[in-house]
Amino acid sequence: VTGTSHSATPQGVIRALFRDAVEMTRAATGDTRPRTVVRTALLQDGYALLVTTRVRETARQLHVPLVNRALRLAQTALYGIEIGKDVQLGRGVYFVHTVGNVVGGNAVIGDRVRFMGNVTVGTARDDGYPVIEDDVVLGAGARVLGPIRVGAGAVVGANSVVLHDVPRGAVVVGSPARVVGTASARLSSADP
Ligand SMILES: CC(C)(COP(=O)(O)OP(=O)(O)OC[C@H]1O[C@@H](n2cnc3c(N)ncnc32)[C@H](O)[C@@H]1OP(=O)(O)O)[C@@H](O)C(=O)NCCC(=O)NCCS
Repeated sequence: VTGTSHSATPQGVIRALFRDAVEMTRAATGDTRPRTVVRTALLQDGYALLVTTRVRETARQLHVPLVNRALRLAQTALYGIEIGKDVQLGRGVYFVHTVGNVVGGNAVIGDRVRFMGNVTVGTARDDGYPVIEDDVVLGAGARVLGPIRVGAGAVVGANSVVLHDVPRGAVVVGSPARVVGTASARLSSADP
């Protein structure tokens, strides 16, 4: 899990956006040919979300007033998503569907994590926020709550409520979520 830190210089931001485009394309298609990266960056709402999030982070690092809040509201208005100001979003996090996702507090989201829509990553009892490791898939309607860790490459089934750590590569389903298998085939992330 790399978190977000990029330097608040024009070069730092451009480098971060380039890495986001490549990693998001890898998450979306498994392919990183330049054509595919450009196409994904231009056509996917998820990339516009990453760009606006990186601008929010940079504005906060530079202590520019209001930009973070204005863009957070714009993200909610345009894409129906809420990403808290202290969330660390890894490289190329892929919002396959943007609507209904809420990521709160100081949650840490790893590289290429896929959000299938209407997912909550938040606190259970005001006692901390999750760490979602790289390449996790969060199924539609999943709730991941509390100071827990979802191991790299795990898959959280649709509508699951996850309240405990999830081992790397596990498939968990249900409420409360339980392990039912091991992630193998790449889940499809068809173009919205
Ligand atoms: C969990 C998931 C990835 C399937 O993983 P899998 O390893 O192939 O698991 P299986 O389909 O073999 O199911 C294993 C068991 O879990 C159950 N199960 C699967 N998904 C479930 C879910 N979301 N909630 C509750 N139970 C579920 C199955 O019924 C099965 O139970 P059984 O052994 O009693 O028959 C898939 O069901 C899922 O939820 N994907 C999310 C996709 C998504 O969000 N799509 C939105 C696109 S917009």
